[in-house]
Amino acid sequence: MEDKSILLIVGGGIAAYKCLELIRRLRERGVDVRVVMTKAAQQFITPLSVSALTNERVFTELFDLDDEREIGHIRLSRDADLILVAPATADLIAKMANGLANDLASSVLLASDKPPLIAPAMNPQMWLNPATQRNVHQLEADGARFVGPETGEMAERDEAGPGRLAEVPALIHAIEEMTASDRSTRARGSPGPLFDRHVVVTSGPTHEPIDPVRYIANRSSGKQGHAIAGAAAKAGARVTLITGPVNLPDPDGVKTIKVETAREMLAVTEQTLPADVAVFCAAVADWSVAEQGDQKIKKKKGKPPPALKLVANPDILKTIASRKKGRPELVIGFAAETENVLQHARMKLKRKGCDWIVANDVSTETGVMGGDSNSVHLIRTGRHESWPELSKEDVAATLVEEIARELASTKRTAANSKSIRAKVDKR
Ligand code: CTP
Repeated sequence: MEDKSILLIVGGGIAAYKCLELIRRLRERGVDVRVVMTKAAQQFITPLSVSALTNERVFTELFDLDDEREIGHIRLSRDADLILVAPATADLIAKMANGLANDLASSVLLASDKPPLIAPAMNPQMWLNPATQRNVHQLEADGARFVGPETGEMAERDEAGPGRLAEVPALIHAIEEMTASDRSTRARGSPGPLFDRHVVVTSGPTHEPIDPVRYIANRSSGKQGHAIAGAAAKAGARVTLITGPVNLPDPDGVKTIKVETAREMLAVTEQTLPADVAVFCAAVADWSVAEQGDQKIKKKKGKPPPALKLVANPDILKTIASRKKGRPELVIGFAAETENVLQHARMKLKRKGCDWIVANDVSTETGVMGGDSNSVHLIRTGRHESWPELSKEDVAATLVEEIARELASTKRTAANSKSIRAKVDKR
């Protein structure tokens, strides 16, 4: 990133303080940082503290004669290799999605000749509001990239969910990826077989809380799901990855949304539709704890250990596959089996109502869970094929090729039946 220049647009939110740390980390890496602050941002941090870190004045006003003579909003946006909006409030996102330009931040963004990187931070209900989600989809369709928001506790009491500003390492990672992926997109020059398609992928385990410090989890690493999301992005798709807690970096060029529980994963998956393809790779916990303790459950001397009462979690794959309206064109499930792999997977295909199942043997001796390779069977109604042992990246790339082939053939069939209909109508 050395010698890159970033224009950081700081919106008004409690998370604005994280920008100070971000600027410091970027400067350490030799990145030149210029900052525009909205009026609201100045309620949370002062231009003085920001300019002490950037070694440059902070830009706040659209109509500042000095600025317009020396460095106007057009130059501010053109000089930067990347514009990062952090924290991006619901208001800033709405302005960007609708092309408003009534202050310096929104004018710079509208005048920009490159897509911005957007790091949202807001209350979970504001983030999940259909209006915000519409704006986010619009911005993605316009080429913007998103990092976060992350899921967790909010500054407001008793508020939790997706809406926290991505942490500084995640922001830096996204900046690195975006500046690198700009180069690779330019080098690639071709839009890819999944261009203009929206692919949703679930990945990783879910964590089901028992009390504030304990949870139920499983051994899924997320490697396979993350690899599929990355491969779909390389094939030109707009990809939304919804992941449970994993120790993996967000894949290049992918919008990654982090969740914890199965219920959150379902809610976010539904919010991200419509999609052309949905791949359900997450190892979703089948059960959650019926009564989660508000406080850490304590041992009681002489008493038996507490019994956990479990309740069924929603089946995300089945819920999406059985949608009457807005079902993705291709719904793909995974089957993690420890015996009778093909037989169980075929039953799962039927039971879940999906189009394909990718089945793998996850018994301990295979080392698939957490490992780097996988041997899978791709099962469709009436036929199946078994692939040799491949790295998880190669399984992902091969699956994405199959997906692209399938979408191209259904498009051809649709076009053919349209032209047959036209011929019949002429007669
Ligand atoms: N799945 C899901 N939601 C759940 C459980 C599973 O979306 N609550 C999805 C997984 O992402 C996977 C598929 O369903 O694509 C099969 O998951 P698997 O764990 O193999 O099957 P289960 O439905 O849990 O059935 P069983 O535990 O009986 O094998």
